[in-house]
Amino acid sequence: MSKNVLVTGGAGYIGSHTVLQLLLGGYRAVVVDNLDNSSDVAIERVEELAAELGGNLSFHQVDLRDRSALEKIFAQTKFDAVIHFAGLKAVGESVHQPLLYYDNNLIGTIVLLETMAAHGCKNLVFSSSATVYGWPKEVPCTEEFPLAAVNPYGRTKLFIEDICRDLCRSDSEWNIILLRYFNPVGAHPSGYIGEDPRGTPNNLMPFVQQVAIGRQPALKVFGNDYSTKDGTGVRDYIHVVDLADGHIAALRKLSDPNISCEVYNLGTGKGTSVLEMVAAFEKASGQKIPLIKVGRRPGDVEVVYASTKKAEHELNWKAKFGIEEMCRDQWNWASKNPYGYRSPNLNLN
Ligand code: NAD
Ligand code: WQD
Repeated sequence: MSKNVLVTGGAGYIGSHTVLQLLLGGYRAVVVDNLDNSSDVAIERVEELAAELGGNLSFHQVDLRDRSALEKIFAQTKFDAVIHFAGLKAVGESVHQPLLYYDNNLIGTIVLLETMAAHGCKNLVFSSSATVYGWPKEVPCTEEFPLAAVNPYGRTKLFIEDICRDLCRSDSEWNIILLRYFNPVGAHPSGYIGEDPRGTPNNLMPFVQQVAIGRQPALKVFGNDYSTKDGTGVRDYIHVVDLADGHIAALRKLSDPNISCEVYNLGTGKGTSVLEMVAAFEKASGQKIPLIKVGRRPGDVEVVYASTKKAEHELNWKAKFGIEEMCRDQWNWASKNPYGYRSPNLNLN
């Protein structure tokens, strides 16, 4: 019998790609999302992409902090596991509105964990972030590195990681996998689902994509005096479909009864500079990206990339795609959906 997975934040960027991989992998998925940073069109498109397996998806527009609504969803279905993506994620916004972040991310998670416990579902995969390494002293970052949060958003990730570790210590029935994502980019190769940020994008690739389609005049390159190959910041970009597959691998690992609380990096292990990423995108899209070199962005780290050994050995998962495929698929999504899910209707095929 196929397994039931509750996916919080499943209408969002990483969530929608993961829900598709779940359906294609034979799981049944129930999505809970308040659509604060997403669109129900993403859900419709995932359903279409999954073809005959699309019937295994259901969606509830519910805020995680709405305990009684969540309770009803758990009462209707016995879940084998939960994948918890739902949360706010803009670093700058979290600095200006810390209470919004603590309320949404922490309270939402606590209500979810309490409801799971009440219904005897104690298997969880949680979206953590490389941000919990703060400013790492060296690279690649291994899962044993000291943890530090440098902004309220990062602190919510660190707090939730700690809550999960405490929960597993207190009750051996809990099995929790914390996935620390590096920099997710790209889109599904169909160009049918992708990242659709509200307002001006904060992250590199959504911004580059908007320059390419003429919604922004030029990319500001934050800092060109880092001690890196070309002076710009270096990150570990990972294709969102690889990341989605990492969640399927984590779900399989959850069936091992002795895992308690485990943490895995999901990255490629390769560092790419801002200028390298822009060059790869220009090549993939045939579009020129005008650049303006400006000062460093406050809070930015010089170089961050993952050690991928633990995920490779224990989850039997490894990223397959390189930056060429990431940029190809980012451009395919952007050119087909210049205004994201608000673009005119797109026909699959
Ligand atoms: P996203 O904003 O596209 O998706 C998050 C989803 O959660 C959205 O659809 C939003 O509407 C929903 N949501 C937020 N608060 C909610 C609440 N209280 N109740 C119900 N739904 C709620 O973001 P994403 O990029 O897909 O990120 C998913 C997760 O991965 C987040 O937890 C994020 O912090 C984490 N993460 C993202 C990145 C990244 O660069 N994208 C990197 C590391 C970690
Ligand atoms: C990448 C590189 C910038 C925009 C953030 C969060 C992190 C995680 C992923 C959730 C850096 C440069 C960017 C621009 C630029 N999210 N850049 N011009 O900062 O590595 O990580 O997203 O957990 O927590 O902090 O990603 O895409 O913003 O930046 O030059 O307009 O691109 O300086 O070197 P970052 P990013």
